[in-house]
Amino acid sequence: MSSLESKLATKLTDLGVSRAEDVSALFAEVHARFESEASAARDEASWKLFRDAWLGRKSGVLTLVTDNWLKPATPEYKRVVGAELNKLRGHVEAQIEARRVEIEGGADEAALARERVDLSLPGVTRAVGSHHLIRQVFQQIEDIFVSIGFSVVEGPEIETPYFNFEALNIPEFHPVRDDMDTFYLQLPKGAPTPLLLRTHTSPMQIRTMEKRQPPVRVIVPGKVYRRDNPDATHSFAFHQVEGLAVDSDITFCDFTGTIEYFVKQFFGPGVKTRFRPSYFPFTEPSVEFDVTCVFCGGSGVSAGGGTCSKCKGAGWIELFGAGMVDPAVYGFVGYDPKKVSGFAFGIGIDRLAMLKYGIDDIQVFFQSDVRFLRQFP
Ligand code: DAH
Repeated sequence: MSSLESKLATKLTDLGVSRAEDVSALFAEVHARFESEASAARDEASWKLFRDAWLGRKSGVLTLVTDNWLKPATPEYKRVVGAELNKLRGHVEAQIEARRVEIEGGADEAALARERVDLSLPGVTRAVGSHHLIRQVFQQIEDIFVSIGFSVVEGPEIETPYFNFEALNIPEFHPVRDDMDTFYLQLPKGAPTPLLLRTHTSPMQIRTMEKRQPPVRVIVPGKVYRRDNPDATHSFAFHQVEGLAVDSDITFCDFTGTIEYFVKQFFGPGVKTRFRPSYFPFTEPSVEFDVTCVFCGGSGVSAGGGTCSKCKGAGWIELFGAGMVDPAVYGFVGYDPKKVSGFAFGIGIDRLAMLKYGIDDIQVFFQSDVRFLRQFP
């Protein structure tokens, strides 16, 4: 038997076709060849060769069949060859198109695989931050005071000596100014007033009373500055919450009750408070509030049995200064000292946070060390 190629180049009469079945057998051979070649066309390049081999105008298989088998066929076989050829053409064209679609789809898939984004890969993430412990403590204090009718106000960190000192009853050369070693701004000659970094939040007492008439109930969270050398309990910048309540009938009892309420809310109901006489130019009388030592529970004895190192055995820890507003201060803001009374307090936030969270070095608040910050999410 000669190869299919040579058969395709030969007329049926020369191939010795003498029966319709011989025609069908020849076409069956062509079909079989087509199927085997079709499965070999796997990519675009081999598909194109395959298509041309079958549909090429000059020497494609279908052309050869037409030219060599159909055209020269004797009238006896023409019909059956024509019918077989039509069947073949229909099948070939349909299959070649189907192959193309398949291969293109495959190409899409390959491209998809190449370009796929792997969603399971961990991406570039930004760690979620959290509020600094100082901010958290500010928030706790604000929540407590807001819940009993105080509102929150804030003021400038750059102040005039008038608000920072004079109007708070601290005239120039008052010895208390020595304790508040102050940063002054370098100003151009002829500046109307010296400027300084506020050494406490108390100037906001004045600014608030200048603006509002009693009743006044405010707290003032903020940053303050002093020329202190840094050590475990000192920093040139630290934080305070000022408090001020002024009304027509505020008594010393309102004052101590409010403070005690705050301290118990902040440290827990188990703590006790006490106050001792103290001195501030802008309060009269002035007191210092203490709380039972949060480390030894007020016993003065550490868990190990020795003297509590935090309160040095006293069982008490100094918390913050406060007092009834000195009538002299009302004179600076145009309030009538005969008609109003009130109290004020100034809480050192860093110290309070250190006590509550057992931190023994104030510097960690300013170092932005994530190993510290992460402990207070
Ligand atoms: N301003 C004071 C300081 O920084 C703290 C203070 C004490 C504030 C008594 C007050 C107060 O409002 O009544 O040292």
